[in-house]
Amino acid sequence: MKKNFYHLTMALTTAAALAACQPQKSAISFEHQGDTLTIVHITNPTKYLILPIQESCNEGKVKLVTGSPADMAMDVRLAVDSVEYYVPFALPQGAKEATLTIGRVAADAICWDSIQLADTFNTANTDYYRPVYHHTPLYGWMNDANGLVYKDGEYHLYFQYNPYGSKWGNMHWGHSVSKDLIHWDHLDPAIARDTLGHIFSGSTVIDKNNSAGYGKDAMIAFYTSASDEHGQIQCMAYSTDNGRTYTKYEKNPILTPFDGLKDFRDPKVFWHDATDKWIMILAVGQEMQIYSSANLKDWAYESSFGEGQGAHGGVWECPDLIELPIEGTELKKWVLICNINPGGPFGGSATQYFVGTFDGKRFVNESPKATKWMDWGKDHYATVTWSNAPEGRHIALAWMSNWQYANNVPTTQYRSGNSIPRDLSLYTSAGETYLKSSPAKELLKLRGKEEKKHSFKVDRTYNLDKLLSDNTGTYEIEMTIKNRNAEIVGFQLFNSKGEEVDIYYNLVEKKFAMDRSKSGIVSFSQDFPIVTFAPIEDNSEMTLRLFIDKSSIEAFGDDGRFAMTNLVFPSEPYNRISFYAKGGSYTVSSFKVYK
Ligand code: FRU
Repeated sequence: MKKNFYHLTMALTTAAALAACQPQKSAISFEHQGDTLTIVHITNPTKYLILPIQESCNEGKVKLVTGSPADMAMDVRLAVDSVEYYVPFALPQGAKEATLTIGRVAADAICWDSIQLADTFNTANTDYYRPVYHHTPLYGWMNDANGLVYKDGEYHLYFQYNPYGSKWGNMHWGHSVSKDLIHWDHLDPAIARDTLGHIFSGSTVIDKNNSAGYGKDAMIAFYTSASDEHGQIQCMAYSTDNGRTYTKYEKNPILTPFDGLKDFRDPKVFWHDATDKWIMILAVGQEMQIYSSANLKDWAYESSFGEGQGAHGGVWECPDLIELPIEGTELKKWVLICNINPGGPFGGSATQYFVGTFDGKRFVNESPKATKWMDWGKDHYATVTWSNAPEGRHIALAWMSNWQYANNVPTTQYRSGNSIPRDLSLYTSAGETYLKSSPAKELLKLRGKEEKKHSFKVDRTYNLDKLLSDNTGTYEIEMTIKNRNAEIVGFQLFNSKGEEVDIYYNLVEKKFAMDRSKSGIVSFSQDFPIVTFAPIEDNSEMTLRLFIDKSSIEAFGDDGRFAMTNLVFPSEPYNRISFYAKGGSYTVSSFKVYK
């Protein structure tokens, strides 16, 4: 199908060119020099070279040759015996000729027959499981959210991006913008992999006082360059066109590890009012390091945090440090967000956090013995917050997957989406302060047709089939549970294929659970079929909001006091719901479905 599309594109391109006064015929030829190197000669380059991908193949090395020392080979899994999908490789415009080298792809590989020249690349969705209102890249691989920053009415979302395939590789900063956190415009990648390395995770600030000298309100991005040759080093780039393009600082790197540390990455930079300084928090092995700067270029080490605190089952990554209000008080506390992989509560990656104080030099955890998790599902990682968000908001966004299986989930054109945006605040319970994650208010705008059931009692089972029967896999459910004396309060979302997700409160063990072991396609990883649990408080009334979007379920209990995010891959939407009670009864009031 796709191959035909590109032939058609070329036909149209050729037709358009013929219509012009001086037709310019584009042509491509391959000069194989054994099995290790092919020289690609292109005359009158079109916008793209369309590359055929087969994910099980080894990575070939595709390099546009300009003669500059900055020429960089990209790793591309070019098809050897069958084509799974295509990706576009941008060609230089305006030149009469272009030359590429392609290394490590055999001369008899199938790709040489299906590489195409084209001026367009079709990004219409081809994935059944692609979410509707969660951000996803148009095509290619995505992991962590990077450089989240708000400026002039736009929320910028940069992200770890591979434009040359739907598996991890070639890290660029992809770029999308939104005015409302729900509808996203996809822009060209903002920062490309270069000879210093992959462009790993990081952050962006608005330089309101022109500390770095690129102009007031310049956008300054901080990221880790990662390569075997240079290790992990911190770099900077600036943008004066509202984040569309960045210029890399000519004296990069701005910070290198001492003692040859291997894991030294993911800078989060923010302005600290009280000390009038910029602060950088960096993930270093299993701790966080804090640095300060006046000009965003020279950084001084201040302190380290982490030894003996929280979970240490893996490397600490993607930090954030924010000051949040405690609900119902005038007080604020600092929260250090610490992503960890592996070592999450259900295996693989997860987001933990610490609550305490920060004086511009040191973060002090007020509960050194506690381990606190931001989300109790398996698919909520690399969580960071938007800088400069309006109305004093602290809006968090996660990558909605898990390193245990992110590269193998059953999608093709793209891999991985983001969580829904969540407003963070703090609440106190039994003397301990916790994070509360409330779905961003913008999500209310998505609500379509409302179906409701005022109130019903469950003492054994209660089916509500019709309310979900015509859904397209994208809906929100809201409910309140009252008058309960049952030990288990639960419901199943299921479909006609026998696939189900069992969601329940175990009130004896005081936990909320989501069982996705029979949720649909689960066999791509032994780490996928699982039950996840969240500890809950013993409230007489329990509220629950569920966001379901093709291949994800996000549950928010008690207004965000607990959150649980899990991917699911049902072969048809869950279109029935059945409640059950064990050891007593309960009432569900104001049950609503928004489609
Ligand atoms: C977290 C992470 C980061 C790193 C990036 C690489 O998911 O491992 O620590 O910067 O992904 O893509």
